[in-house]
Amino acid sequence: MFEKVLIVDDDPGIRNTISELIQELGYKSETASDGVEALGLLDSGPYLCVFTDIMMPNMSGLELIRKIKAQDVSLPIIVITGYASLEIAIEAMKYGASDFISKPFKVKQIELLLNKVRREKILLEENRRFSDTLHLHRLIDNLVGQLEDKNEEIISLQEISEKIISLKGIRDLVGAIIDVSKQLLDETDVRFFPLSIKDNKLIDTGSGKELPVDPFLLQGNIVRKNTSETQLVEKFETIFPLMIEGQVFGALSIISSAVLGEDKEGKIQYLLNRSAERLENVALYEGLYENMLSTLNSMAKILDARDPHTSQHSTRVTTLSMSMAAALGLSEEERETLYIAASLHDIGKVGIPDNILLKPDKLTDEEFDFIKRHPDIGADILKPLPPMAKETEIIRHHHERFDGRGYPSGLKENDIPYLSRILCLADSFDAMTSDRPYRKGMSVAEAVAEICKCKGRQFDPDLADTFIEKVAGS
Ligand SMILES: [Fe+2]
Repeated sequence: MFEKVLIVDDDPGIRNTISELIQELGYKSETASDGVEALGLLDSGPYLCVFTDIMMPNMSGLELIRKIKAQDVSLPIIVITGYASLEIAIEAMKYGASDFISKPFKVKQIELLLNKVRREKILLEENRRFSDTLHLHRLIDNLVGQLEDKNEEIISLQEISEKIISLKGIRDLVGAIIDVSKQLLDETDVRFFPLSIKDNKLIDTGSGKELPVDPFLLQGNIVRKNTSETQLVEKFETIFPLMIEGQVFGALSIISSAVLGEDKEGKIQYLLNRSAERLENVALYEGLYENMLSTLNSMAKILDARDPHTSQHSTRVTTLSMSMAAALGLSEEERETLYIAASLHDIGKVGIPDNILLKPDKLTDEEFDFIKRHPDIGADILKPLPPMAKETEIIRHHHERFDGRGYPSGLKENDIPYLSRILCLADSFDAMTSDRPYRKGMSVAEAVAEICKCKGRQFDPDLADTFIEKVAGS
């Protein structure tokens, strides 16, 4: 298995310290003193991940990362940095590094990093397995062989697989399980009940009531009941457990006018098994996503700490954006995207040198041009992270103006992403009402007057009205 870790550093002290810590954790380690030697070793077999320094003779760490990624995009790379080189670490992350560690190196820190790397590896393999259509077809063929009507089955089972593969969240998945079951069985009475782990009861999400659960189901078995009330109208209930990693997660109940039979039960079982695989993947993915967010949030905090005048700015802008989201009745998905974009909107300022970012006086035109690059820098930091695609664009355009005279792209009116237009209002309002070293902040009334004046020029007029009416001053 992948248990070998490669450490690249020109400083033998650092190389050996990390190497020893890694061995303490039960992994094998190999070391290289520069990029050229590292590339040679990488040809010799699979590695779990690479730790690399940035400043090295012969080949820089960034160059090494670029070369490794060109060969194997999935090999995780962790950058070894000094105390004050966050910019370099971020630069490296743009090249595809997945994380960084800095001195003093602690065994716990390395253990967490390696655990994360392993989880990501499993996720990647799972994804590969799902997209491996050959594997899927073999699976389907196997199943089909056991069933009677071959042609019909190929279509329906492929449909199940395709539907499941294209899903994102858990809620989507439960909805799809119900839809596909209805289609497969021609039955309309199909319901899903999640299991409350606390007291082992099924929850009726419609009424909120708790229902008793058959112990036979809890052991992973299908429960079949004859629920006919009269002899004229027959009714049967079949309850399938949805199992994830050996645990019952919920139950799918199907009411039918005839016993389902082996054939139909087999199809539902296949659907639930495939869904469970997918759910495991979603859970893993969501864990990853949170991990990534916490890294980004700590970057935002570092930024706030660097500039005392704007500390808490991101937090206040996020709060204002969420009030706007509530006032506008945004969907949960949009709210979540806006929340992340607002908390990270100025993350690109990590790329602005201290003498400009922290300058106590008014900026020169040239310095301001530098500041203007932060939306692009921020978007570039997030760009390698596929789940952040929407947030990336919102951050890139948070300084556009409604009249097209903003930056970086000079987008106009509805060409500016909707959530960027909201973020722009929240950002500007907070900037206006905060004190700066060279000026005092405006009062809320003054800021509202300013927003009113800039309606249709800097701000979307409709959104500005909502902001004034429902958010400012409340
Ligand atoms: Fe900004």
